Amino acid sequence: MEGTCVAQVVNIGQLHQHVGSSVTIEGWLYNKRSSGKIHFLQVRDGTGLVQCVVVKSAVTPEIFERSGLLTQESSCRVSGLVRQDDRAPGGYELDVEGIEIVQIAQEYPITHKEHGVDFLMDHRHLWLRVPRQRAIMRVRAEVQRAIFDFLDNRGFTRVDPPILTPSSCEDTTELFQTKYFDEEAYLTQSGQMYMEAAAMSLGRVYSFGPCFRAEKSKTRRHLIEFWMVEPEMAYVDHDENLRIQEQLVSHVVEHVLHHCEAELHTLGRDVEKLAKVPGSFPRMSYDDAIAWLRKNGFDIEWGDDFGAPHETALAGQYDQPLFIERYPTKIKAFYMQPDPLRPEVVLCADMLAPEGYGEIVGGSQRIADYELLNARFEEHHLPRDTYAWYLDLRRYGSVPHSGFGLGLERTIAWICGLEHIREAIAFPRTLYRLYP
Ligand code: 4AD
Ligand code: MG
Repeated sequence: MEGTCVAQVVNIGQLHQHVGSSVTIEGWLYNKRSSGKIHFLQVRDGTGLVQCVVVKSAVTPEIFERSGLLTQESSCRVSGLVRQDDRAPGGYELDVEGIEIVQIAQEYPITHKEHGVDFLMDHRHLWLRVPRQRAIMRVRAEVQRAIFDFLDNRGFTRVDPPILTPSSCEDTTELFQTKYFDEEAYLTQSGQMYMEAAAMSLGRVYSFGPCFRAEKSKTRRHLIEFWMVEPEMAYVDHDENLRIQEQLVSHVVEHVLHHCEAELHTLGRDVEKLAKVPGSFPRMSYDDAIAWLRKNGFDIEWGDDFGAPHETALAGQYDQPLFIERYPTKIKAFYMQPDPLRPEVVLCADMLAPEGYGEIVGGSQRIADYELLNARFEEHHLPRDTYAWYLDLRRYGSVPHSGFGLGLERTIAWICGLEHIREAIAFPRTLYRLYP
Protein backbone atom coordinates (compact mmCIF):
# COMPACT_ATOMS: atom_id res chain seq x y z
CA MET A 1 0.00 0.00 0.00
CA GLU A 2 1.20 3.46 -0.75
CA GLY A 3 2.14 5.87 2.06
CA THR A 4 3.02 3.16 4.56
CA CYS A 5 5.64 3.55 7.28
CA VAL A 6 9.02 2.14 6.34
CA ALA A 7 11.28 4.25 8.57
CA GLN A 8 12.77 2.92 11.85
CA VAL A 9 10.29 2.62 14.73
CA VAL A 10 11.17 4.82 17.74
CA ASN A 11 9.52 5.97 20.96
CA ILE A 12 8.11 9.49 21.12
CA GLY A 13 10.15 9.98 24.29
CA GLN A 14 13.28 9.36 22.22
CA LEU A 15 12.53 11.79 19.37
CA HIS A 16 15.27 14.21 20.47
CA GLN A 17 17.82 11.62 19.27
CA HIS A 18 16.36 11.64 15.76
CA VAL A 19 16.06 15.29 14.78
CA GLY A 20 16.48 15.58 11.01
CA SER A 21 15.73 11.90 10.32
CA SER A 22 12.61 10.07 9.24
CA VAL A 23 11.16 7.75 11.88
CA THR A 24 7.99 5.78 12.56
CA ILE A 25 5.97 6.04 15.75
CA GLU A 26 3.32 3.55 16.84
CA GLY A 27 0.52 4.81 19.02
CA TRP A 28 -2.94 6.23 19.37
CA LEU A 29 -4.55 9.46 18.26
CA TYR A 30 -5.00 11.65 21.32
CA ASN A 31 -6.48 14.69 19.62
CA LYS A 32 -6.87 16.20 16.18
CA ARG A 33 -7.31 19.65 14.68
CA SER A 34 -8.00 19.97 11.00
CA SER A 35 -8.54 22.52 8.29
CA GLY A 36 -9.03 21.81 4.63
CA LYS A 37 -5.28 21.99 4.00
CA ILE A 38 -3.70 20.60 7.13
CA HIS A 39 -4.28 18.02 9.87
CA PHE A 40 -2.59 18.35 13.25
CA LEU A 41 -2.56 14.87 14.77
CA GLN A 42 -1.56 14.59 18.40
CA VAL A 43 -0.28 11.06 18.79
CA ARG A 44 0.70 9.38 22.04
CA ASP A 45 2.55 6.10 22.51
CA GLY A 46 3.00 5.76 26.27
CA THR A 47 6.37 7.48 26.27
CA GLY A 48 5.11 10.89 25.18
CA LEU A 49 2.87 12.97 22.99
CA VAL A 50 3.87 14.49 19.66
CA GLN A 51 2.14 16.66 17.13
CA CYS A 52 2.22 15.19 13.63
CA VAL A 53 1.61 17.70 10.86
CA VAL A 54 -0.02 16.49 7.65
CA VAL A 55 0.15 19.14 4.94
CA LYS A 56 -2.12 18.44 1.98
CA SER A 57 0.26 19.84 -0.59
CA ALA A 58 3.18 17.80 0.79
CA VAL A 59 1.62 14.31 0.89
CA THR A 60 -0.31 12.04 -1.44
CA PRO A 61 -4.12 12.36 -1.45
CA GLU A 62 -4.31 8.88 0.20
CA ILE A 63 -2.21 9.95 3.17
CA PHE A 64 -4.18 13.15 3.63
CA GLU A 65 -7.47 11.26 3.47
CA ARG A 66 -6.31 8.57 5.87
CA SER A 67 -5.27 11.23 8.38
CA GLY A 68 -8.72 12.74 8.18
CA LEU A 69 -10.35 9.39 9.03
CA LEU A 70 -8.56 9.03 12.35
CA THR A 71 -10.91 9.41 15.31
CA GLN A 72 -9.92 9.95 18.95
CA GLU A 73 -8.00 6.88 20.25
CA SER A 74 -7.69 5.28 16.82
CA SER A 75 -4.50 3.26 16.70
CA CYS A 76 -2.04 4.18 14.00
CA ARG A 77 1.53 4.16 12.75
CA VAL A 78 2.88 7.47 11.58
CA SER A 79 6.18 8.14 9.87
CA GLY A 80 7.75 11.48 9.25
CA LEU A 81 10.68 13.79 9.59
CA VAL A 82 11.52 14.84 13.15
CA ARG A 83 11.76 18.58 13.59
CA GLN A 84 12.68 20.49 16.73
CA ASP A 85 10.02 23.05 17.60
CA ASP A 86 10.23 24.80 20.92
CA ARG A 87 6.55 25.82 20.76
CA ALA A 88 5.37 22.22 20.40
CA PRO A 89 4.37 20.29 23.52
CA GLY A 90 7.31 17.97 24.07
CA GLY A 91 9.57 20.16 21.93
CA TYR A 92 9.35 18.17 18.64
CA GLU A 93 7.04 17.79 15.70
CA LEU A 94 6.75 15.23 12.94
CA ASP A 95 6.29 16.30 9.32
CA VAL A 96 4.21 13.38 8.15
CA GLU A 97 5.39 11.25 5.24
CA GLY A 98 3.36 8.07 5.74
CA ILE A 99 0.47 6.82 7.83
CA GLU A 100 -1.08 3.42 8.54
CA ILE A 101 -4.40 2.97 10.28
CA VAL A 102 -4.33 0.02 12.67
CA GLN A 103 -7.88 0.44 13.90
CA ILE A 104 -10.43 3.21 13.66
CA ALA A 105 -11.78 3.68 17.18
CA GLN A 106 -15.51 3.86 17.75
CA GLU A 107 -16.86 7.05 19.27
CA TYR A 108 -14.72 7.44 22.39
CA PRO A 109 -16.65 7.93 25.63
CA ILE A 110 -14.04 10.15 27.29
CA THR A 111 -13.87 13.37 25.34
CA HIS A 112 -11.62 16.36 25.94
CA LYS A 113 -14.27 18.13 27.96
CA GLU A 114 -14.85 17.72 31.71
CA HIS A 115 -16.39 14.51 33.02
CA GLY A 116 -17.66 13.68 36.49
CA VAL A 117 -15.56 11.42 38.69
CA ASP A 118 -18.10 8.58 38.76
CA PHE A 119 -18.24 8.51 34.99
CA LEU A 120 -14.45 8.48 34.79
CA MET A 121 -14.21 5.74 37.40
CA ASP A 122 -16.73 3.61 35.46
CA HIS A 123 -14.41 4.05 32.48
CA ARG A 124 -11.22 3.62 34.45
CA HIS A 125 -9.91 1.15 31.85
CA LEU A 126 -10.01 3.98 29.30
CA TRP A 127 -9.35 6.89 31.66
CA LEU A 128 -5.88 5.44 32.27
CA ARG A 129 -4.88 6.70 28.80
CA VAL A 130 -4.90 10.42 29.59
CA PRO A 131 -1.57 12.15 30.31
CA ARG A 132 -2.42 12.79 33.93
CA GLN A 133 -3.17 9.13 34.69
CA ARG A 134 -0.14 7.99 32.75
CA ALA A 135 1.98 10.39 34.84
CA ILE A 136 0.62 8.96 38.09
CA MET A 137 1.34 5.38 36.98
CA ARG A 138 4.88 6.38 36.02
CA VAL A 139 5.44 7.99 39.42
CA ARG A 140 4.02 4.88 41.09
CA ALA A 141 6.50 2.68 39.24
CA GLU A 142 9.38 4.99 40.19
CA VAL A 143 8.30 5.08 43.85
CA GLN A 144 8.44 1.29 43.87
CA ARG A 145 11.82 1.26 42.17
CA ALA A 146 13.16 3.76 44.72
CA ILE A 147 11.89 1.65 47.62
CA PHE A 148 13.48 -1.54 46.25
CA ASP A 149 16.77 0.26 45.46
CA PHE A 150 16.95 1.66 48.95
CA LEU A 151 16.22 -1.58 50.78
CA ASP A 152 18.16 -3.89 48.45
CA ASN A 153 21.24 -1.70 48.85
CA ARG A 154 21.04 -1.83 52.63
CA GLY A 155 21.13 -5.54 53.14
CA PHE A 156 17.39 -6.23 53.13
CA THR A 157 16.10 -9.43 51.53
CA ARG A 158 12.65 -9.42 49.97
CA VAL A 159 10.41 -12.16 51.30
CA ASP A 160 6.83 -12.74 50.17
CA PRO A 161 4.31 -13.47 52.94
CA PRO A 162 1.05 -15.33 52.24
CA ILE A 163 -2.12 -13.56 51.17
CA LEU A 164 -4.49 -16.21 52.53
CA THR A 165 -4.09 -16.36 56.30
CA PRO A 166 -5.76 -18.13 59.20
CA SER A 167 -5.68 -15.07 61.50
CA SER A 168 -5.67 -11.29 61.60
CA CYS A 169 -2.74 -8.95 62.13
CA GLU A 170 -4.44 -5.61 62.68
CA ASP A 171 -8.03 -4.78 63.63
CA THR A 172 -10.24 -7.88 63.41
CA THR A 173 -13.31 -5.83 62.43
CA GLU A 174 -11.72 -5.11 59.04
CA LEU A 175 -11.12 -8.67 57.87
CA PHE A 176 -12.14 -10.06 54.53
CA GLN A 177 -13.34 -13.55 55.23
CA THR A 178 -13.25 -16.39 52.77
CA LYS A 179 -13.34 -20.18 52.74
CA TYR A 180 -10.19 -22.29 52.64
CA PHE A 181 -11.85 -25.59 51.80
CA ASP A 182 -13.52 -26.40 55.14
CA GLU A 183 -11.66 -23.81 57.18
CA GLU A 184 -12.21 -20.09 57.67
CA ALA A 185 -9.51 -17.96 56.07
CA TYR A 186 -8.85 -14.24 55.70
CA LEU A 187 -7.19 -12.06 53.11
CA THR A 188 -4.07 -10.54 54.63
CA GLN A 189 -4.25 -7.11 56.24
CA SER A 190 -0.48 -7.00 56.71
CA GLY A 191 2.37 -9.46 56.27
CA GLN A 192 4.08 -8.24 59.40
CA MET A 193 3.88 -11.33 61.58
CA TYR A 194 5.31 -13.50 58.82
CA MET A 195 8.02 -10.93 58.23
CA GLU A 196 8.98 -11.17 61.90
CA ALA A 197 9.58 -14.88 61.36
CA ALA A 198 11.63 -14.13 58.22
CA ALA A 199 13.69 -11.47 60.05
CA MET A 200 14.76 -14.10 62.58
CA SER A 201 16.24 -16.01 59.65
CA LEU A 202 17.60 -13.25 57.41
CA GLY A 203 18.11 -10.29 59.76
CA ARG A 204 16.60 -7.58 57.59
CA VAL A 205 13.69 -8.35 55.31
CA TYR A 206 10.86 -6.61 53.53
CA SER A 207 7.69 -7.56 51.79
CA PHE A 208 5.76 -5.76 49.11
CA GLY A 209 2.28 -6.86 48.33
CA PRO A 210 -1.44 -6.18 48.42
CA CYS A 211 -3.29 -5.81 51.73
CA PHE A 212 -7.03 -5.98 52.22
CA ARG A 213 -9.12 -4.07 54.73
CA ALA A 214 -12.87 -4.26 54.83
CA GLU A 215 -13.02 -0.74 56.20
CA LYS A 216 -16.40 0.90 55.86
CA SER A 217 -14.66 4.24 55.46
CA LYS A 218 -15.30 6.35 52.43
CA THR A 219 -12.52 8.88 52.95
CA ARG A 220 -10.08 10.15 50.37
CA ARG A 221 -7.33 8.24 52.22
CA HIS A 222 -8.80 4.73 52.28
CA LEU A 223 -8.73 1.89 49.82
CA ILE A 224 -10.10 -1.59 50.42
CA GLU A 225 -7.15 -3.12 48.58
CA PHE A 226 -3.83 -1.29 48.85
CA TRP A 227 -0.15 -2.12 48.57
CA MET A 228 2.21 -2.00 51.49
CA VAL A 229 5.97 -2.23 51.91
CA GLU A 230 6.80 -3.89 55.20
CA PRO A 231 10.42 -3.93 56.35
CA GLU A 232 11.20 -5.93 59.48
CA MET A 233 14.59 -5.79 61.21
CA ALA A 234 16.22 -7.94 63.88
CA TYR A 235 18.34 -6.11 66.47
CA VAL A 236 16.82 -2.74 65.54
CA ASP A 237 15.19 -0.60 68.23
CA HIS A 238 12.56 2.12 68.04
CA ASP A 239 15.00 4.98 67.35
CA GLU A 240 16.81 3.19 64.55
CA ASN A 241 13.45 2.17 63.10
CA LEU A 242 12.53 5.86 62.73
CA ARG A 243 15.91 6.73 61.21
CA ILE A 244 15.47 4.04 58.55
CA GLN A 245 11.94 5.29 57.80
CA GLU A 246 13.04 8.89 57.31
CA GLN A 247 15.94 7.81 55.11
CA LEU A 248 13.64 5.64 53.01
CA VAL A 249 11.02 8.35 52.51
CA SER A 250 13.72 10.95 51.80
CA HIS A 251 15.25 8.65 49.20
CA VAL A 252 11.88 8.04 47.55
CA VAL A 253 11.14 11.77 47.27
CA GLU A 254 14.62 12.55 45.92
CA HIS A 255 14.34 9.74 43.38
CA VAL A 256 10.96 10.95 42.12
CA LEU A 257 12.15 14.57 41.92
CA HIS A 258 15.09 13.38 39.87
CA HIS A 259 13.37 10.82 37.59
CA CYS A 260 9.82 12.15 37.21
CA GLU A 261 10.28 15.83 36.44
CA ALA A 262 7.97 15.72 33.42
CA GLU A 263 5.32 13.70 35.26
CA LEU A 264 5.29 16.06 38.25
CA HIS A 265 4.94 18.92 35.79
CA THR A 266 1.98 17.21 34.08
CA LEU A 267 0.40 16.80 37.51
CA GLY A 268 0.99 20.45 38.38
CA ARG A 269 2.82 19.37 41.52
CA ASP A 270 4.58 22.09 43.51
CA VAL A 271 8.05 20.52 43.49
CA GLU A 272 9.44 23.22 45.79
CA LYS A 273 7.44 21.63 48.56
CA LEU A 274 8.80 18.16 47.83
CA ALA A 275 12.35 19.50 47.66
CA LYS A 276 12.09 20.47 51.33
CA VAL A 277 11.36 16.89 52.42
CA PRO A 278 14.70 15.00 52.43
CA GLY A 279 16.57 15.08 55.72
CA SER A 280 15.73 14.16 59.29
CA PHE A 281 12.06 14.51 60.13
CA PRO A 282 10.54 16.33 63.11
CA ARG A 283 9.32 14.17 65.99
CA MET A 284 6.62 14.84 68.49
CA SER A 285 5.36 12.66 71.32
CA TYR A 286 1.71 11.68 71.42
CA ASP A 287 1.51 13.58 74.75
CA ASP A 288 2.77 16.79 73.15
CA ALA A 289 0.49 16.26 70.16
CA ILE A 290 -2.54 16.05 72.46
CA ALA A 291 -1.43 19.15 74.35
CA TRP A 292 -0.87 21.05 71.09
CA LEU A 293 -4.26 20.02 69.70
CA ARG A 294 -6.07 21.06 72.90
CA LYS A 295 -4.28 24.40 72.89
CA ASN A 296 -5.40 24.87 69.29
CA GLY A 297 -9.06 24.35 70.00
CA PHE A 298 -9.53 20.62 69.34
CA ASP A 299 -11.81 18.68 71.64
CA ILE A 300 -9.58 15.68 72.32
CA GLU A 301 -8.26 13.89 75.39
CA TRP A 302 -5.26 11.76 76.22
CA GLY A 303 -6.17 8.24 75.15
CA ASP A 304 -8.15 9.25 72.07
CA ASP A 305 -6.97 8.27 68.62
CA PHE A 306 -6.41 10.96 66.01
CA GLY A 307 -8.81 11.55 63.16
CA ALA A 308 -7.96 13.08 59.81
CA PRO A 309 -8.47 16.72 60.98
CA HIS A 310 -6.08 16.16 63.91
CA GLU A 311 -3.43 14.63 61.68
CA THR A 312 -3.79 17.39 59.11
CA ALA A 313 -3.43 20.12 61.75
CA LEU A 314 -0.44 18.49 63.45
CA ALA A 315 1.44 17.79 60.21
CA GLY A 316 0.49 21.21 58.81
CA GLN A 317 3.05 22.85 61.08
CA TYR A 318 5.93 21.36 59.09
CA ASP A 319 7.28 21.09 55.55
CA GLN A 320 8.52 17.58 56.24
CA PRO A 321 6.66 14.48 57.37
CA LEU A 322 6.10 14.44 61.12
CA PHE A 323 6.63 11.44 63.40
CA ILE A 324 4.16 11.12 66.26
CA GLU A 325 5.71 8.71 68.76
CA ARG A 326 4.64 6.72 71.78
CA TYR A 327 0.89 6.39 71.50
CA PRO A 328 -1.17 4.98 74.38
CA THR A 329 -0.80 1.21 74.63
CA LYS A 330 -4.54 0.70 74.73
CA ILE A 331 -5.19 2.25 71.29
CA LYS A 332 -2.40 0.42 69.45
CA ALA A 333 -1.85 -3.16 68.24
CA PHE A 334 -1.18 -5.98 70.70
CA TYR A 335 2.34 -6.71 69.39
CA MET A 336 3.86 -3.28 70.15
CA GLN A 337 6.62 -3.00 72.77
CA PRO A 338 5.63 -0.90 75.79
CA ASP A 339 8.06 1.85 76.74
CA PRO A 340 10.00 0.27 79.65
CA LEU A 341 9.90 3.58 81.55
CA ARG A 342 6.21 4.19 80.90
CA PRO A 343 4.31 1.03 80.00
CA GLU A 344 1.12 3.01 79.32
CA VAL A 345 2.66 4.05 75.99
CA VAL A 346 4.24 1.91 73.26
CA LEU A 347 7.46 2.35 71.26
CA CYS A 348 5.68 3.13 68.03
CA ALA A 349 5.37 5.98 65.58
CA ASP A 350 3.10 7.09 62.79
CA MET A 351 4.62 9.19 60.04
CA LEU A 352 2.20 11.92 58.96
CA ALA A 353 2.77 13.40 55.52
CA PRO A 354 2.60 17.17 55.08
CA GLU A 355 -0.15 18.98 53.16
CA GLY A 356 -2.95 16.97 54.77
CA TYR A 357 -2.14 13.51 53.41
CA GLY A 358 -2.27 11.81 56.80
CA GLU A 359 -0.46 8.71 57.99
CA ILE A 360 1.76 7.17 55.34
CA VAL A 361 3.82 4.92 57.63
CA GLY A 362 2.93 3.02 60.80
CA GLY A 363 5.56 1.10 62.70
CA SER A 364 6.85 -0.01 66.06
CA GLN A 365 9.32 -1.99 68.08
CA ARG A 366 7.76 -5.42 68.67
CA ILE A 367 7.34 -7.26 71.93
CA ALA A 368 10.27 -9.69 72.15
CA ASP A 369 9.52 -11.13 75.59
CA TYR A 370 7.56 -14.39 75.66
CA GLU A 371 5.74 -13.75 78.95
CA LEU A 372 4.66 -10.26 77.99
CA LEU A 373 3.40 -11.31 74.58
CA ASN A 374 1.60 -14.24 76.18
CA ALA A 375 -0.12 -11.83 78.56
CA ARG A 376 -1.18 -9.64 75.63
CA PHE A 377 -2.77 -12.67 73.97
CA GLU A 378 -4.87 -13.21 77.09
CA GLU A 379 -5.92 -9.57 77.28
CA HIS A 380 -6.87 -9.44 73.62
CA HIS A 381 -8.56 -12.86 73.66
CA LEU A 382 -6.50 -14.02 70.71
CA PRO A 383 -6.97 -17.67 69.71
CA ARG A 384 -3.91 -19.67 70.77
CA ASP A 385 -3.98 -22.27 68.05
CA THR A 386 -3.73 -19.82 65.15
CA TYR A 387 -1.00 -17.75 66.82
CA ALA A 388 1.14 -20.51 68.35
CA TRP A 389 3.81 -20.10 65.69
CA TYR A 390 4.08 -16.36 66.39
CA LEU A 391 4.72 -17.05 70.08
CA ASP A 392 7.36 -19.60 69.08
CA LEU A 393 9.43 -16.71 67.70
CA ARG A 394 9.73 -15.54 71.34
CA ARG A 395 10.80 -18.97 72.57
CA TYR A 396 13.70 -19.67 70.24
CA GLY A 397 16.32 -16.92 70.19
CA SER A 398 14.04 -13.91 70.57
CA VAL A 399 15.73 -10.55 69.93
CA PRO A 400 14.65 -6.91 70.01
CA HIS A 401 13.24 -6.12 66.59
CA SER A 402 11.24 -3.45 64.82
CA GLY A 403 9.47 -2.83 61.59
CA PHE A 404 7.01 -0.65 59.76
CA GLY A 405 4.50 -0.56 56.96
CA LEU A 406 4.52 2.15 54.29
CA GLY A 407 1.26 2.52 52.40
CA LEU A 408 2.15 2.84 48.74
CA GLU A 409 -0.97 4.65 47.53
CA ARG A 410 -0.97 7.22 50.34
CA THR A 411 2.67 7.94 49.62
CA ILE A 412 1.91 8.34 45.92
CA ALA A 413 -1.15 10.50 46.59
CA TRP A 414 1.06 12.82 48.64
CA ILE A 415 4.02 12.90 46.23
CA CYS A 416 1.74 13.47 43.23
CA GLY A 417 -0.46 15.95 45.11
CA LEU A 418 -3.66 13.96 44.36
CA GLU A 419 -6.94 15.00 45.88
CA HIS A 420 -8.07 11.42 46.35
CA ILE A 421 -6.18 8.15 46.86
CA ARG A 422 -8.29 6.36 44.19
CA GLU A 423 -6.11 7.84 41.43
CA ALA A 424 -2.93 6.38 42.96
CA ILE A 425 -3.71 2.83 41.80
CA ALA A 426 -4.72 1.65 38.33
CA PHE A 427 -7.92 -0.13 39.38
CA PRO A 428 -8.97 1.11 42.82
CA ARG A 429 -11.09 -1.00 45.12
CA THR A 430 -13.15 1.36 47.23
CA LEU A 431 -16.21 0.96 49.43
CA TYR A 432 -18.64 1.08 46.50
CA ARG A 433 -16.45 0.00 43.64
CA LEU A 434 -15.34 -3.39 42.37
CA TYR A 435 -15.72 -2.47 38.68
CA PRO A 436 -13.91 -2.34 36.31
O1 4AD B 1 -0.79 1.41 60.31
P1 4AD B 1 -1.07 0.10 59.62
O2 4AD B 1 -2.39 -0.50 59.83
O3 4AD B 1 0.12 -0.87 60.09
C1 4AD B 1 0.22 -2.19 59.85
O4 4AD B 1 -0.51 -2.85 59.18
C2 4AD B 1 1.48 -2.79 60.43
N1 4AD B 1 1.28 -4.22 60.61
C3 4AD B 1 2.61 -2.49 59.48
C4 4AD B 1 3.94 -2.99 60.00
O5 4AD B 1 4.40 -2.53 61.02
N2 4AD B 1 4.56 -3.90 59.30
O6 4AD B 1 -0.85 0.28 58.06
C5 4AD B 1 0.39 0.76 57.56
C6 4AD B 1 0.17 1.78 56.47
C7 4AD B 1 -0.55 3.04 56.92
O7 4AD B 1 0.34 3.97 57.48
C8 4AD B 1 -1.13 3.54 55.60
O8 4AD B 1 -0.14 4.23 54.86
C9 4AD B 1 -1.44 2.25 54.87
O9 4AD B 1 -0.65 1.23 55.45
N3 4AD B 1 -2.86 1.92 54.99
C10 4AD B 1 -3.78 2.15 54.03
N4 4AD B 1 -3.68 2.71 52.81
C11 4AD B 1 -4.79 2.79 52.06
N5 4AD B 1 -6.00 2.36 52.45
C12 4AD B 1 -6.15 1.78 53.66
N6 4AD B 1 -7.35 1.32 54.02
C13 4AD B 1 -5.01 1.67 54.52
N7 4AD B 1 -4.80 1.15 55.75
C14 4AD B 1 -3.49 1.32 56.01
MG1 MG C 1 -1.55 2.85 61.43
